[in-house]
Amino acid sequence: MDRTLEGRTAVVTGASRGIGRAIATLFAAEGANVALVSRSREALDDVAAGITRDGGQALVIAVDITADEAPEEIVGSTLEAFGGLDILVNNAGGNSFMAPLQTMRFSGWQKTMVLNLDSTVRLIQAALAPITAGGHGSIINVSSVTALRGSPLMSHYGAAKAAVVSLTQSLGVELGEQGVRANALVPGWIETDLTGFLRTDDALEDSVLSRVPMKRWGRPEEIAQAALFLASDASSFMTGQSLVVDGGLSANP
Ligand SMILES: NC(=O)c1ccc[n+]([C@@H]2O[C@H](COP(=O)([O-])OP(=O)(O)OC[C@H]3O[C@@H](n4cnc5c(N)ncnc54)[C@H](OP(=O)(O)O)[C@@H]3O)[C@@H](O)[C@H]2O)c1
Repeated sequence: MDRTLEGRTAVVTGASRGIGRAIATLFAAEGANVALVSRSREALDDVAAGITRDGGQALVIAVDITADEAPEEIVGSTLEAFGGLDILVNNAGGNSFMAPLQTMRFSGWQKTMVLNLDSTVRLIQAALAPITAGGHGSIINVSSVTALRGSPLMSHYGAAKAAVVSLTQSLGVELGEQGVRANALVPGWIETDLTGFLRTDDALEDSVLSRVPMKRWGRPEEIAQAALFLASDASSFMTGQSLVVDGGLSANP
């Protein structure tokens, strides 16, 4: 049977666990060569071992995506190993604190922007030439439902993720005629390490899930399926858009 991403090469940032790991594993199973990016070499080796065990191709790139040299290292190593680059998934990101804007340290605001927004911009800029050359380019920027409305105590994270949506719209327009599509993937509450603190207390977890019409956490694999759609020719006429996968959360008035 034909595999959806046969012969394509993908870079997936934040591939050591959670959503990124699920995306990288699914892309590899669908025939893509996958470059796995995060800071933890050991965890990436583990993901790569699973991919190669199943007959796939994986490259480990252990780097902090906020480091100055990271974009060149990621793109250069991927081209050297696989000879091209077709799909870029800017997934690494997250939020390490909650605070009201009034008392938030500006350094915390900046750190969140650098991780979720600046590193995405820099990697896109480094990857655009090879992605355009391949003729099947797809850029997927992972945003969050926090981008879609106010995010009290997470204004830093919500603003960064909202900027990712706007950036994606602009890119979709700028790249429209160049054979490269750019779309945002917008998850709701997904069961990963990032949201682990919300499952440490039943009342807290209930308050989160009470707003979700499907009354459960999303699974990383469910986000990976949406990423596969955006990466593949199945979404060939889609660019500059946001695909929301949130169990109905953002539809809830
Ligand atoms: N989980 C949710 O409910 C949810 C909802 C909406 C959006 N999202 C977004 O989805 C994406 C993935 O989230 P997740 O839930 O899978 O989070 P996670 O389980 O915390 O995984 C985050 C990934 O990003 C990597 N990473 C973090 N900082 C990095 C850095 N400076 N350099 C390189 N890699 C870095 C981590 O690897 P290392 O630690 O090994 O570097 C890890 O692989 C994030 O952008 C997040 O904002 C998540």
